[in-house]
Amino acid sequence: MDENAGKAEKEGRKAEKTLRIRTYAQEKQVVVEVSDTGLGMTEEVKRKIFEPFFTTKETGKGTGLGTSISFGIIKDYGGTIEIESEFGRGATFVIRFPAII
Ligand SMILES: Nc1ncnc2c1ncn2[C@@H]1O[C@H](COP(=O)(O)OP(=O)(O)OP(=O)(O)O)[C@@H](O)[C@H]1O
Ligand SMILES: [Mg+2]
Repeated sequence: MDENAGKAEKEGRKAEKTLRIRTYAQEKQVVVEVSDTGLGMTEEVKRKIFEPFFTTKETGKGTGLGTSISFGIIKDYGGTIEIESEFGRGATFVIRFPAII
């Protein structure tokens, strides 16, 4: 029984934590969608997410640079990034680049 419970727990955890990456071409753009099943974010976090050094992680755990650096790189390539997220419902980052045709 213990073994089953452990297995179910492991499988359960695996099912909970999913990362989905979709890439496709749409008109003259290349779109990359990255969806996770994490905590999602509040409107306030969404507003501040690209600010350098903005983090909700505890002191010493996060630099708050991950998304601001990503934003800079995407801009450099003429792209855009949008977030679809609700707190408790995961997050989807939608990145669009101009396609070279
Ligand atoms: N996928 C996500 N789901 C929910 N919240 C996110 C997600 N990505 C970023 N955030 C929120 O935005 C904040 C800033 O993100 P960012 O990646 O810039 O820094 P960080 O993750 O805190 O630090 P580091 O990138 O150095 O680990 C995070 O602290 C978190 O609150
Ligand atoms: Mg980060």
